[in-house]
Amino acid sequence: MSYCRTQHCSTMYRAVLRLCRKQVLPNSIQRWNQECRLLGLSVDSSSKRLASNTATSPSKSSYESLVERKLFLKTAFARSATAKVAAVTTVDGGKNVEIKWDDGSISKYHSMWLRQSCHCPSCRLSTNQPIVNFMDVNIDATVSDARLDGDKVLKVIWSDDKNHMGLFPVPFLKHYSYSDKSLTEIKNQRKMVFSSEAQIPEVAYSDVMGSDTGLFQWLNHLNKYGICLVKNVPTQEMTIKKVVERIAPIQSSVYGEIFDVKDTPQPINFAYTPVRLELHMDQPMYESPPGLQFLHCLRFDKQVTGGKNFFVDLFHVAHRLREEYPKEFQDLVRIPVNWETVHYDRDFPVHMSYQRPHISLNSDGEIVGVTWHPGLGGPLLVKEEDVEPYFRAYKVMATLLNNFPSQYRHRMQEGDMISFNNRRVLHGRESYNPHDGIRHYQGCYVQIDEFKSQVQVFSNKIGDGKLATRVGNLDLQ
Ligand code: OGA
Ligand code: ZN
Ligand code: ZN
Repeated sequence: MSYCRTQHCSTMYRAVLRLCRKQVLPNSIQRWNQECRLLGLSVDSSSKRLASNTATSPSKSSYESLVERKLFLKTAFARSATAKVAAVTTVDGGKNVEIKWDDGSISKYHSMWLRQSCHCPSCRLSTNQPIVNFMDVNIDATVSDARLDGDKVLKVIWSDDKNHMGLFPVPFLKHYSYSDKSLTEIKNQRKMVFSSEAQIPEVAYSDVMGSDTGLFQWLNHLNKYGICLVKNVPTQEMTIKKVVERIAPIQSSVYGEIFDVKDTPQPINFAYTPVRLELHMDQPMYESPPGLQFLHCLRFDKQVTGGKNFFVDLFHVAHRLREEYPKEFQDLVRIPVNWETVHYDRDFPVHMSYQRPHISLNSDGEIVGVTWHPGLGGPLLVKEEDVEPYFRAYKVMATLLNNFPSQYRHRMQEGDMISFNNRRVLHGRESYNPHDGIRHYQGCYVQIDEFKSQVQVFSNKIGDGKLATRVGNLDLQ
C-alpha cells in the first residue's frame, strides 16, 4: 500500500490513519478488513500489515521495538543517548508533561507538542516521517496519563482518545527539549568560534579519499573554521569532482558544474581575467548562494608574479561591526541590497536580481546570515532617505573588512585544493601577470545544507554527536 499526495488519496489516507489508530482494539482486524473493503484497499496486504503491527503492539512496545521497527533512529540522537529520567509528572491540568532529568534539570512538553511528535506506529512511518494529521486532532486535548515504560520510553494517553498510546523514546525527548537551559545549550553548540590563526587548517588528499575519519577531519575543519586546505590532490583536470563528491553532489550554477578559473579571451566572469578580486562571496544574487566553494590549483607557474589568495571570516567582521559601529550595523541589517547579475552577452543569458540586506538576524538578534560582494550590489532600490545611510554604513564595513587583522593569505601550490564556506568566509585574489606564465584553477560548489547534513551525520556516527556549527545559511536557530 503506498500513498500519494492527491486530494483523493489524502482523504483515503486520513481514513486509513483513523483505522491504524484503532489497531489496539482486540477486534480491530475485522473492522480494519471491513473498512479496507469499503475504501477499496487490498484486505490481505492490509491485514498483514495490521497483524505485524499487532505482533509488537504499542502496549507491549519498548525502546528496542521502536528501534527495530525504525520508528526511532538512535544514531541520530548520539548527543542524548544516555539521558536518564528521574521523574515524570503531568502538570497544569494535563496541558503539560514535566520531566525531571537525573541532573536535576526540568523539561516541559506541551500536550500538542507530544501529539505531533508521537512515535507510535500509527503516527510515524519507518522512514522516520511523522504522519500525524492535525485535521483529526483535538488541539485542546490534555494528557490524562504519562509514565515511563522501562527507562527509555515515555507512554502518554490523551484525554480525547484513550485507545491511542503515545510513545516517546527518552533520547528523543532530551534531544528536542525546549527548556530555556536546553535552548541555550543548543545555541552554544551551534555558535561560530572565530580564529585568529594565520595558518589555514590542512588535511591530506589521501586521508580524505582513504577513510571516513580523514573525511570527518576535513568536515570538522570546515565546520569549525569555515576553511580548510586539501594538500597533494593529483593535478589532473576534473579530479576536483571526485574529491568534492566525498562530501556531497556538486551544486551547479550559471557558471556550470566545474568551472575553469584562468585568464580567458572572452571572460564571462571577473575571475576569468587576471585582475585583483576584492574580498567577496560567490553569487549572492541567488536565493541560495553556493555553499562550500572549492578551488583546485592545477597549474601555477613559479614565475607568475601576484595571484596570491586571501580569506577573511565575514561573520567575525560582522560581529566586530556590531560592537564598534552599532548604528552602521543596524543600517546594514535594515536596508536591502539589490544583488544582481545581468549578462546577456553569453551563451546562456542571465538576468538575476535578489533583494537581501548585508546582515540578517534571528528573533533573538543573533547574526544568521551575512552577504558581501563589492561587485554585485546593483543599483539600490530603497526609500530615498535610506540611500545615504546605506553608503555610509557600507563604507564603514568595507574598511573594517579590508583592514581586518585576522586574514589568511596563501599562494596556492599545484595540487592544493582550498575549500571554504562561501556563506561565511570571503575570498580574494591579488592581480597577476598572465604574461609571466599560467595560473589555472578548477572550481565548484556544494550546497550548504548538504554540507551541514554531512557534518551532523558524521558527528553522530563517528564523533561526539555535537550539533553542527551555524553555517550562515539564514537558519534561524
Ligand atoms: C572565483 C574566484 C579566485 C582565484 O573563481 O570565484 O574568486 O584565485 N577565484 O582565481
Ligand atoms: Zn501515536
Ligand atoms: Zn570568487
